[in-house]
Amino acid sequence: MKLWGGRFSGRRDPQFEKFSESFSLDQRFVLYDLRVNLAYVQALRGARVLKPREAALLAAGLNTLARKINRRPNWAKGQSAEDVHTWVEGELARIAGSVAGKLRTGRSRNDLVATEMRMYAKDSALHLMRALADLMEALLHLARGYSSAILPGYTHLQPAQPILFAHYLLAYFEMFSRDCSRLADCRARADELPMGAGALAGTTFPIDRERLAKDLGFARVAGNSLDVTCDRDPAAELVFACALCMVHLSRLAEDLIIYSSPGFGFVELDDAYSTGSSIMPQKKNPDSMELIRGRSGAVLGNLAGLLAIMKGLPSAYDRDLQEDKAAMFAAVDTTLGAVEIAARVAATLRIRPERMKAMTELGFLTATDLADELVRRGAPFSSAHEQVGKLVQHCAALGKTFRHLSAQEASEFVPGWDSHLYEVAKSVERSVARRDVTGGTAPKQVARQLARAEREVAHLRDVLGKVVK
Ligand code: ARG
Repeated sequence: MKLWGGRFSGRRDPQFEKFSESFSLDQRFVLYDLRVNLAYVQALRGARVLKPREAALLAAGLNTLARKINRRPNWAKGQSAEDVHTWVEGELARIAGSVAGKLRTGRSRNDLVATEMRMYAKDSALHLMRALADLMEALLHLARGYSSAILPGYTHLQPAQPILFAHYLLAYFEMFSRDCSRLADCRARADELPMGAGALAGTTFPIDRERLAKDLGFARVAGNSLDVTCDRDPAAELVFACALCMVHLSRLAEDLIIYSSPGFGFVELDDAYSTGSSIMPQKKNPDSMELIRGRSGAVLGNLAGLLAIMKGLPSAYDRDLQEDKAAMFAAVDTTLGAVEIAARVAATLRIRPERMKAMTELGFLTATDLADELVRRGAPFSSAHEQVGKLVQHCAALGKTFRHLSAQEASEFVPGWDSHLYEVAKSVERSVARRDVTGGTAPKQVARQLARAEREVAHLRDVLGKVVK
């Protein structure tokens, strides 16, 4: 079955039919297609294109089809069509007869597919946000459970300053929280109805687009028919939100890969999310995290691919736009899978605070605190920095930590060295506590961040619970 036979009499090439079909991908839209069709039947009735009896017949046929599909998860097996819209019209003709031919009055697959793409984007954003909320909750659970654990903080992956482990976890919370708000934003922008835009110019039938928007759960009607039939911003924004979320996940994955290596040993992944080696019996590899890191590259590729498809297209609809779905489905599926696994890994992660603490002894993490203390005593920061730098050089050459310094030795590099400076050098707890600015790592500040994060997740859950499809 074709929706456009009349103009053609030549032979079809089956190889091109296969090349151009999108049913194998857009069959995922089938329930959206039925829902849009059901609402459109009412719009056509309102426009007096369909008699009430015809509208009832079509609606009954569409409902029968929806029930069939819901009953059979693999309904598409053995089916083929140019696309899902063609398939639905064909099936409807079989159930309801020739009246099915009236359904596509005043519309095009261009406004149809644009509508379904937006419905999919809106739903996918919600699914991703729900999964992200689980991950954020798992991070908060860890932060609450290990609220006093101190981690060596790294810059350039070199020891920098001590931080609370909870502070570290909350940094990822921030990233995933931004991902959620990005998804909510792109959902809000996708929330406008294309139907009624026709192929590009609108329709000659008095379709009540406002009513259609309401019936299909759209916040408003798209204001320009030309734009909306070829606008794939919702797909591009969704894929970008996925790509950036995967970048965040990939960085978390990289941290956990490093932190679970025996040289660090700060965390241990649950056996369920690790794998072994076929030759080395001792191996426990963080494959779950490596796959997330690897797949983030694929999602970045989906984004680049989609933007490249859009670039340079003449307005309005071009068949190139059919290719938006492959990128969008792949990005959403990959990201959803990755967020879900990351949440499970976080929920089952074993934490080794004693290993973190032991590691804070190395790397002269309190060097900045020493320099700051010298500043409090009146030195310019530049000379304080220089003195402490020389002290570190001395210790490093002898393989010592600050703890092993004698007062006499230290005062060769830092004039005025006393027991207070020695305490400053030794105590990572004090170093952490001193960073008492908003957003800093002091326990008081981190407790505030944690409380704010908890309120935020509760609010997110609340909002997600209230969204009606
Ligand atoms: N399968 C097409 C797509 O996904 C539907 C729109 C086709 N429209 C057209 N005029 N050929 O983009």
